[in-house]
Amino acid sequence: MSVLTQTAGPASTLDIETVRRDFPILRREVRGKRLVYLDNAATTQKPQAVIDRIVKYYAEENSNVHRGVHYLSEVATEAYEGARKIVKDFLNARDVKEIVFTRGTTESINLVAQSWGRRNIGAGDEVIISAIEHHSNIVPWQMICDEKGARLRIIPVNDQGELSLDEYEKMLGNRVKLVAIGHISNALGTVNPIRKMTELAHAAGAVVLIDGAQGVPHGVVDVRDIDCDFYAFSGHKVYAPTGVGVLYGKQALLQAMPPWQGGGDMILSVSFEKTTYNSLPYKFEAGTPNIEGVIGLGEALRYISGLGVANVAAWEHDLLLYATARLQEIEGLTIIGTAADKASVISFVLEGVHPHDIGTILDQEGIAVRTGHHCAQPLMMRFNVPATGRASFGLYNTREEADLLVEGLHKVIEVFR
Ligand code: ALA
Repeated sequence: MSVLTQTAGPASTLDIETVRRDFPILRREVRGKRLVYLDNAATTQKPQAVIDRIVKYYAEENSNVHRGVHYLSEVATEAYEGARKIVKDFLNARDVKEIVFTRGTTESINLVAQSWGRRNIGAGDEVIISAIEHHSNIVPWQMICDEKGARLRIIPVNDQGELSLDEYEKMLGNRVKLVAIGHISNALGTVNPIRKMTELAHAAGAVVLIDGAQGVPHGVVDVRDIDCDFYAFSGHKVYAPTGVGVLYGKQALLQAMPPWQGGGDMILSVSFEKTTYNSLPYKFEAGTPNIEGVIGLGEALRYISGLGVANVAAWEHDLLLYATARLQEIEGLTIIGTAADKASVISFVLEGVHPHDIGTILDQEGIAVRTGHHCAQPLMMRFNVPATGRASFGLYNTREEADLLVEGLHKVIEVFR
């Protein structure tokens, strides 16, 4: 089934004019044109509530966390730990101890690779990833497999951009220690059946990590329902600041893992003879954290929850269907990635035009899209393209903006005719 034949699902009740007013950057012009921001898979814009919260932190609350008995330190600690509770509730995790703050998805995955992986992956073991992973869910596993003499195995993808579950099941032997899969492909938009894939991996005795960088922005994520062992995501893809991310991990696994980085805050006591590590989650948060980033992340999740995550997902799904249909009307345009289950990410190539030229000409119209390999070079090779253009829609985008994209692409075609 193509995305076009799907029904739109429950209608969204998002009040788009109010939502757009919440994002000050959307009022600006770019190159003399109204900004049409369609690069949300790279990073999202920030609502005023998040900007205000960061300003308030620096204007009224700035202090280090977990370190002082003075008033401001207590205020900052309360805000920081309050954000952890918001993340815990957002993911439906069992306990705040399962929520570790990191710099982003990449750091979360590297933490698992270097801590859990080093201890649990050995010579002859296998790690399974897929053909549509972002580099950040490929390279950390390559590094640990190289170091340990383990084997990296790749679930193949079909021409629509869907993973082959049959092949995946065949791979799940008793040598497999870990399955690391993206929730949603940043380059194609494919939504992977992570619940089913987790169940199959667990039946084979493997641990499961989900790269949720594109998952959290586009729908409800319930880690208890998915039953994954680790789930990683970034703040900046979900309307929060850059430089902050989350690693969710099941408590028993995190408990058994050695710390990754050493330093302040991750210890209970230090002497030259022996250091005792702090309890969860602090054991994994060495050094002064990105305090304003964490507080901003909490505010962003509060903002999205206020709109309703399912409501946002329904809005974006409508945009996906509409934009897909409009793009398919353009002669010479091919959409790369036509999975039955897709999020609002559309990759495409235009006959006779290099994707970088598409990006440059659209930019002259004030339209921001990403062009390139999208940090997924093996995937580009699989589809035999050097790069694609990619329009990725967020909660503040509109059908009118999809129309402007189509108009812009017609201008691109004019230039190359
Ligand atoms: N991973 C980000 C993207 O897909 C940077 O654009």
